[in-house]
Amino acid sequence: MPSKQVFNSQDGATYTTSTGAPVAKPYAAQRIGAVGPLLLQDFHHIDLLAHFDRERIPERVVHAKGAGAHGYFEVTHDITDLTCASLFKKVGNKARTTVRFSTVGGESGSADTARDPRGFAIKIRTDEGNLDWVFNNTPVFFIRDPAKFPHFIHTQKRDPQTHLKDADMFWDYLSLNPESIHQVMILFSDRGHPDGYHHMHGYSGHTFKFVNEAGEFHYVQIHFIKDGGAKSLTEPEASKLAGDNPDYGIQSLFEDIEAGKYPSWTVYVQTMTAAQAEKFRYNILDLTKIWSHKEFPLRPIGKMVLNENPQNYFAEIEQAAFSPSHTVPGIEASADPVLQSRLFSYPDTHRHRLGVNYNQLPVNAPAVPIANFQRDGFMAFSNQGSRPNYQSSLVPLEYKSKPYEEVQHETWLGAANADLSFVTELDFEQPRELWLNVFNDTDREHFVHNVAVHLCNAKSAEVKARQLSVFAAVDQGLSDRIANAIGVPTVKPLQVAPASAAIRFKAFA
Ligand code: HEM
Ligand SMILES: *[C@@H]1O[C@H](CO)[C@@H](O)[C@H](O)[C@H]1NC(C)=O
Repeated sequence: MPSKQVFNSQDGATYTTSTGAPVAKPYAAQRIGAVGPLLLQDFHHIDLLAHFDRERIPERVVHAKGAGAHGYFEVTHDITDLTCASLFKKVGNKARTTVRFSTVGGESGSADTARDPRGFAIKIRTDEGNLDWVFNNTPVFFIRDPAKFPHFIHTQKRDPQTHLKDADMFWDYLSLNPESIHQVMILFSDRGHPDGYHHMHGYSGHTFKFVNEAGEFHYVQIHFIKDGGAKSLTEPEASKLAGDNPDYGIQSLFEDIEAGKYPSWTVYVQTMTAAQAEKFRYNILDLTKIWSHKEFPLRPIGKMVLNENPQNYFAEIEQAAFSPSHTVPGIEASADPVLQSRLFSYPDTHRHRLGVNYNQLPVNAPAVPIANFQRDGFMAFSNQGSRPNYQSSLVPLEYKSKPYEEVQHETWLGAANADLSFVTELDFEQPRELWLNVFNDTDREHFVHNVAVHLCNAKSAEVKARQLSVFAAVDQGLSDRIANAIGVPTVKPLQVAPASAAIRFKAFA
């Protein structure tokens, strides 16, 4: 379905150059005589080609393939005990929101149904600036040490020589970095290929901090639960669609919104006090772990509805620039080192991908006026007029709440510590729970199939055996089933340190 404009060119517009000069013949190029060379004086033709030559901007280094839409976030419950964020001051508050869903590893033309986590990036335009929640559709991640991220991503992308995706590289990395196993268990279930982009849940994964008016904080995990439930494809369905319709996800999101079938999510938080966090079995700054819903029940806070397709994909979705560091007073990052590194990485990549003034682009511009002393740079098109460009008459906010010093807050102390990935038995508890008690027989059957059709592509017997030893540390039966499915010998579990050796979380040094 082409955009409406294809069928509606009668909007009164006249064809012009980029400077607005009307041009009678769009296909014309000035040349000498009927068959001679072209003329440099023909601005229209040079304007046309020079702009075309510069159409591409870098695609996102990860999450290049995606789809997005606009809508709103609405506050449905009072959480002023948790946060002083102005968005949450009143039940019923609504803020215009833009969401971009994505796959992670593939290029911008790759298949929407690839086995991959899905990005779930949300920009909420509050009256205290933009709140970006840059989430995934899985509650955990592959790493807890940010130094591994570029290495890990390279193993999901193309081999430097063959320029092919490579099953050996993929499993070599995962088997040598077994803290990835929880995310691997989710990724190789059918949740690894959601049915389109908008039939899935979204999770902060990381722990965040909500701070209230009194300056007291809670640790929180944020969940966007799809109304009507999440939907997944099976491996054969996903593989077939990858060939038949690689843009399946973009298409079904666009068409559902055009048809008035607006996807919506109910938004919840799980909360913990610092004292609870210190007693919790897992380190809350380790995003390979989830918080049990039984121990830390979901508390509803709001809803999100997507009811508006972009008019222009590039301007409204491709140029959208999300970052976990785009936040508002009352909602803070935790000390999770992966999150901390993301606070830097996203604005850094935006300055590269979109330029230093990326926050002035219409889709990224906050709903509130900007007043500061940043000036100039490429494409500064809202440069704050005649307002002084040095610390001047701008009135800083009077903080009504207690200064943080008066409230007991996190205090950190310790030597520089480089290795965050030490693997213990603790890392296998939640994957085992998933395999034994969350998956049903069908899920288990699909899981074994999904791993087998991928792992069998690895050429190295050593890599296969090593990954099987990681699966055996989850459950011997699971590992043996995969070994049988790919026709290799069964192996013993990977030996790891006891749970008691794991790093424990302390908020107060
Ligand atoms: C050290 C860890 C990580 C680093 C360094 C990192 C870095 C990046 C970078 C550079 C981009 C491209 C952004 C752009 O060009 O606009 C990106 C995209 C994205 N990342 Fe991460 N990432 C990390 C982990 C995570 C985690 C744990 C999550 C989810 C919980 C996540 C969710 C996303 C999403 C949703 C996008 C796509 C945003 C969009 O649609 O524009 N990333 N990441
Ligand atoms: C198993 O669980 C999946 C969801 O993970 C569900 O779609 C399926 O119907 C369940 N199958 C059985 C036999 O209960």
